[in-house]
Amino acid sequence: MQLAVQNKKVLVRVDFNVPLNENFEITDDTRMRAALPTLQHILNEGGALIIMSHLGRPQKKKKDDGTINVEKFTLRHVVTHLSSLLNRPVKFCPQTVGEQATQMTSDLQSGEVLVLENTRFQKEESKGDEGFARQLADLADVYVNDAFGTAHRAHASTTTVAQFFSKEEKSFGFLMQKEIENANRVLHNPQRPLTAIIGGAKVSDKILLLERLIDFVDNLIVGGGMAYTFVKANGGDIGDSICELDKLDLANKLEDKAKAKGVKLVLPSDNIIADDFSNDAQRKEVPSDQIPDNWQGLDIGTKSREEFAEIIRTSKTLLWNGPMGVFEMPNFAHGTKYIAQVVADTTQKGAFSLIGGGDSVAAINQMGLADDVSYVSTGGGAMLEFLEGKELPGIKAMES
Ligand code: 3PG
Repeated sequence: MQLAVQNKKVLVRVDFNVPLNENFEITDDTRMRAALPTLQHILNEGGALIIMSHLGRPQKKKKDDGTINVEKFTLRHVVTHLSSLLNRPVKFCPQTVGEQATQMTSDLQSGEVLVLENTRFQKEESKGDEGFARQLADLADVYVNDAFGTAHRAHASTTTVAQFFSKEEKSFGFLMQKEIENANRVLHNPQRPLTAIIGGAKVSDKILLLERLIDFVDNLIVGGGMAYTFVKANGGDIGDSICELDKLDLANKLEDKAKAKGVKLVLPSDNIIADDFSNDAQRKEVPSDQIPDNWQGLDIGTKSREEFAEIIRTSKTLLWNGPMGVFEMPNFAHGTKYIAQVVADTTQKGAFSLIGGGDSVAAINQMGLADDVSYVSTGGGAMLEFLEGKELPGIKAMES
């Protein structure tokens, strides 16, 4: 980060959209810790920190009387924890913009930290409103965007605000830089073989990703719920497994495209099936194309695990996005956990691995493997869109 911040008021957009329990305690602070290098750097260099973030979707979850549920969505919930992470007091402003925000930010001294209230309490935020963005910009001298997790949203605090700072007055933070660098390492000039492991429930969520990956990967492993659509498209019996009937043609086309490009597209050859969508359901292991009626596939089978593992072990670059089964049910999490371990082991032997969002990140974290893979992204939707080749508005805005 080249930005001069000494004696400056630094407006930093972070993604502190962290999960909270019913007592509003943070249950996973990964995103907060990921922003610390940027925040510490600014403080060490003598800047005054004005932190802004969204938390949840307060405009969509209003109270019955139509007002914002402040108690649930206030960013005050992160203040105590941020203070302990930064090892210094953190002030909180119950406004995002307005008289009090102006006063508190103008009183802020070098080395001090202020958190503004949830940017999404203002309905102008998600509209990318210029007036609101201008009010935010007026609070500070310079702007830092370190909110990779929200870079796919063209919101006032992530995108519009950047136009009020010259190139010399704005910068990405270290997290943003790392996310872009690691994704680019997979997308451009990866060491080969390059294997993408894609899971999740629906093909429709990942059409663009699958299409794009076929253009440059060597192996494409498809697991999770979306695999049943491919198996069905190939004429297999999938019983009651999740399937998008309107995507059968697309699945065939993707397989044809992979063949034409010389990409090895690998589907599970067997599955753990269940007689109910429940952790306690009866279980059996059967070939993927022979799932009986009234049964559904909820995880990859033991043969598939090994077949996938063999490809992963011989790869030099790995991209993993999406679970191999219904990971939230322990009896159907074995496939995902197995793959997580193999990805970590292969990384330890020298491969580069990017874990790109969602439940695959949860699996890596739960198994304590985050330090054994090369990079765990803090972006779900943002990383997906980046890998799909879309230009993220939060990134583009910083470049002009
Ligand atoms: C996320 O959790 O993926 C980001 O914080 C973006 O949140 P959103 O999907 O509510 O815009």
